[in-house]
Amino acid sequence: MKLGHRLAHINMMIPNGYTHIWDCCCDHGLLGAALLDRHAAIIHFVDIVPALMQQLTAKLERFYPQQNPPKWQVHCVDVSAIPLDQDEHTPLVIIAGVGGDLMIEFVRSLCQQYSNRKIDFILCPVHYQYELRQQLIKLDCELIDEKLIEENRRFYEILYIRRDPKLPANVANDSLTDIDPIGSVIWQASDAVQQDIAMRYLAKTIAHYSRINQSRSGNTSQALKEYQQVNIALK
Ligand SMILES: C[S@@+](CC[C@H](N)C(=O)[O-])C[C@H]1O[C@@H](n2cnc3c(N)ncnc32)[C@H](O)[C@@H]1O
Repeated sequence: MKLGHRLAHINMMIPNGYTHIWDCCCDHGLLGAALLDRHAAIIHFVDIVPALMQQLTAKLERFYPQQNPPKWQVHCVDVSAIPLDQDEHTPLVIIAGVGGDLMIEFVRSLCQQYSNRKIDFILCPVHYQYELRQQLIKLDCELIDEKLIEENRRFYEILYIRRDPKLPANVANDSLTDIDPIGSVIWQASDAVQQDIAMRYLAKTIAHYSRINQSRSGNTSQALKEYQQVNIALK
């Protein structure tokens, strides 16, 4: 089945070279199936709903008959329970289509359990992008890339990040930058279409934080101030 705009963007952001890719909260497994078509990695499909995973296993057995060694595995578990110690290479963990609050719990739990491992993540939350970014900064994650996309009149940030416990703090690395709490690359539009998406996303985000600013404690007003200072640039 054809991928939607959002999952297609996530698919395009993934370079070759991973040995294990985890499609977490995979639902019907669309993204993982697209990855099976073009990657040599073992693709792990993860979701917590048993009926979904049974259906997916049947589909995968039909369309991607299992090989030796296996090209895919299905795991009916909570994302926090995925085993990331399968080999010495850096795993890629993709989590998309769930709230940023849940995503924070998953990433925090995996980073704690595998405190000595380098882990790459691609995260595409529904809501709570600011809060998620703040937690990623606290976990010493670094940015590889980020994108802003629009699908069905909703905006999504896609964060491609790395948590590398062996990377000394404050040491420059050409391919990594600090994560900005409100995003950085997403406000540098490559063309007029992307600029329009960024402007509408910014207006919507500022309206959101303005609305809840009065009624909520925490860092909401700080978020509002930061978003109000964004300048959308055409690269
Ligand atoms: C809306 S779907 C997202 C599908 C796909 N990743 C996407 O972005 O379109 C959310 C999925 O997350 C799964 N899910 C929710 N909580 C989970 C958890 N704790 N562990 C694993 N999967 C979970 C649900 O069962 C559901 O299939």
